[in-house]
Amino acid sequence: MQDNLDYTLFSWSKQKGQNPIAVKHAEGVYLYDYDGKRYIDFSSGLMNVNIGHGNQRITDAVVKQMQEVSYVTPSCVTKVRGDLGKKLAAICPGDLNKAFFTICGATSIENSIKLARLYTGRHKILTRYQSYHGSSNGAMTASGDPRKLAVDSQQAPNFVHFDLPYLYRWEYGEENLLKESVASLERVIAYEGAGNIAAILLEGESGSSGCLQYPVGYLKAVRSLCNQHGILLIMDEVMSGFGRTGKWFGFENHGIIPDMIAMAKGLTCGYLPFGCLMVSDTIAAKYDDTVLALGLTYSAHPVACAAALETLKIYEDDNLIENAAAMGSYVTAQVELLKQKHPSIGNFRTTGLLGCLELVKNRTTKEPMAPFNAKPDEMIVMNKVAAKIKELGMYTFVRWSYIFICPPLIVTKEQINEGLDIISKALLIADENIAR
Ligand SMILES: Cc1ncc(COP(=O)(O)O)c(C=O)c1O
Repeated sequence: MQDNLDYTLFSWSKQKGQNPIAVKHAEGVYLYDYDGKRYIDFSSGLMNVNIGHGNQRITDAVVKQMQEVSYVTPSCVTKVRGDLGKKLAAICPGDLNKAFFTICGATSIENSIKLARLYTGRHKILTRYQSYHGSSNGAMTASGDPRKLAVDSQQAPNFVHFDLPYLYRWEYGEENLLKESVASLERVIAYEGAGNIAAILLEGESGSSGCLQYPVGYLKAVRSLCNQHGILLIMDEVMSGFGRTGKWFGFENHGIIPDMIAMAKGLTCGYLPFGCLMVSDTIAAKYDDTVLALGLTYSAHPVACAAALETLKIYEDDNLIENAAAMGSYVTAQVELLKQKHPSIGNFRTTGLLGCLELVKNRTTKEPMAPFNAKPDEMIVMNKVAAKIKELGMYTFVRWSYIFICPPLIVTKEQINEGLDIISKALLIADENIAR
């Protein structure tokens, strides 16, 4: 612990006052620390360990690949690279058949932005304020997430954000939400000049911004606006992909097919860092006779490809995507019961197992337990809730007024009950802070 604190830096936080869990080993949905304390992992790491921890099939696949060859340059080919490309093409709908392998989510996003600009000859990228796409320069700028505000002066040019409200905090009726969301996007396109817009980049389903689901019909409308104006549609499936929402990809809940898919996280479930940008045949065809100006030393890393290929087999062999859909429904039903006990639960949104609770101080006014981009002194109650969750043996992501419920897709009903029981106990702290 001391060496970690003395010699390493921690993401997104003040370096003093860290109190991390020292994980000795992990298996299934559980993490274990050096004192033998068990934590149920209700955020699947960072919503990436979809197959659960410690799956030896991945270890075996990785070891086998390393015994054959660990690294080749991206200009060489390996059997595993071809096998993985073919498998991804089979999983992806439409003509999304060409894989450019990357290293993580941000490198998938950076390459999608670069390729969209190269392919269309246009420069602007439109994205939602309520989004996160990564922390590298372009991906950070593409994000609307306030984590980027600390480095505001470093934002890259030619990104335009638009607002997309969500139902729980929209006061003017569900049908008007769709109408107004589409109309406001149409206005942004007109203001920015449709002919200048290379792509619209959206999460397949909203993740760390609070699972702020799309209005029904919204992505279909976006797809048709893109078609109308020759704008590419890029879906960021880094968090929502690979079964998390009860489908291979989040956008499949909305009946659309994008032009590119940015992938990472659930592709290897964190066993190794890896990512992929899946591109349509139409886009790829342009580069049959034109140089494709993308490249990474670790593109198509054989060991990462082996981990990904085995991961994809596990989703299928163990019916994990079906389980995510079924367990998502189960969580929803159980949270309905929790709502009766806990006045601090304002809203619960989940698609499959990509979900979160939104806590409020008052159900009528919907005043949040902590505001958007809460300052430390506005997080006092939520920090106590988070501390209780941890004390009671759960690891999960607590942000502003949100408690994420995103366990690995292998989770059982009993384990969901165990996790919700911990959350229920911690919610007593929030309930005490209800403004009546
Ligand atoms: C939707 C989405 N896109 C992109 C990223 C960036 O991925 P990475 O941290 O692997 O760069 C994340 C990370 O949380 C994400 O949630």
